Amino acid sequence: MNVYIRGIGTYLPEKIVSNHDLAKQIDTSDEWIWSRTGIRERRIAAEGEHASTMGKRAAEEAIRNAGLSPDDIDLLVVATMTPDFLFPSTAAVLQAQLGLRNVPAFDISAACSGFLYGLEVTRHLLQSGTYRNALLVGTEKLSSVLDWQDRSTCVLFGDGAGAVVLSQGATGIIDVLLAADGSNPDILYMPGGGSRMPATEASVAHRDHFLKMNGREVFKVAVRAMEQSIRDILDRNSININDIRYFIAHQANYRILDALAQRLSVPMEKFPVNVDRVGNTSAASIPLIMKEMVDDGRLKSGDNVVLVAFGAGLTWGTSLLKWKDSREMP
Ligand code: ACO
Repeated sequence: MNVYIRGIGTYLPEKIVSNHDLAKQIDTSDEWIWSRTGIRERRIAAEGEHASTMGKRAAEEAIRNAGLSPDDIDLLVVATMTPDFLFPSTAAVLQAQLGLRNVPAFDISAACSGFLYGLEVTRHLLQSGTYRNALLVGTEKLSSVLDWQDRSTCVLFGDGAGAVVLSQGATGIIDVLLAADGSNPDILYMPGGGSRMPATEASVAHRDHFLKMNGREVFKVAVRAMEQSIRDILDRNSININDIRYFIAHQANYRILDALAQRLSVPMEKFPVNVDRVGNTSAASIPLIMKEMVDDGRLKSGDNVVLVAFGAGLTWGTSLLKWKDSREMP
């Protein structure tokens, strides 16, 4: 059974924080951030906004753009590394906020690869025939886990949400390839707050409830893993790399995209970029940029598109899509 993306929605918080704004608070500069990452500014959630409320805004737009109503949704999957709570799931919270029927709702924890992990799980559940229309939401309030005294990490991330409605019907998602290597989880992690290190005065004083990252290591592994993953998915579907219209990559860092494009010998024009305006938004990153490309007409029916992401875990993955403009559906 074929599964396709029937509608997309996104949400970005209003507040824009530029590199110059950050340079007033920490020892950094627009020049350093721009040259190392390609980021100029990011959005930061307001007080009272969190993963579920941002996800709700994106999901409502996705349902509308799919030409459906909340009653039509029969499965809800949320990808996030910044859930409202450790439990219950953000998906359960969102089910009620969206006024969905009592449909199954669960979270996926795969950090920046979360949207691709969600795509794979969701499409198979739709293909099973049990569900007809699924809502997949990537939503992140990364500002809540950033150490605003750590200039090596806080400049990289932003908040936002993206959502897609996936439906049975047309060819859209051709393949998904996922992978993980958890042998060095501390390459990118948050040490405190889980069962291994519950919150104590000492853990708070030690700033263990913030994201920690070995940026150089992540960079190296990310480029190698995404390159191999793209080559593998194209090989197993017998598609030539030149027949791919766009490589829509997780927006972590312009230099990572540039290195990936070079290793694949693909022109940078085929790698859309919005990291300059939103920073790294983890599981929201791919739907956020896809929506821009739908709105400005870059994505056209029939385009072969590769999605690719990597994130904490480490996890990574790729998907091969045949883009289908849902406005052309019967
Ligand atoms: N402003 C100014 N100077 C800084 C800043 C900053 N914001 N941050 C670090 N520096 C300094 C460092 O202290 C260091 O100074 P020193 O040489 O005096 O010690 C110097 O800049 C170089 O630091 P490096 O960490 O070596 O810088 P690098 O060139 O490697 O760039 C970066 C760092 C941008 C983080 C890069 O390694 C990178 O992009 N890595 C990938 C990270 C990533 O994409 N993570 C997301 C993963 S996705 C997910 O799952 C969330």
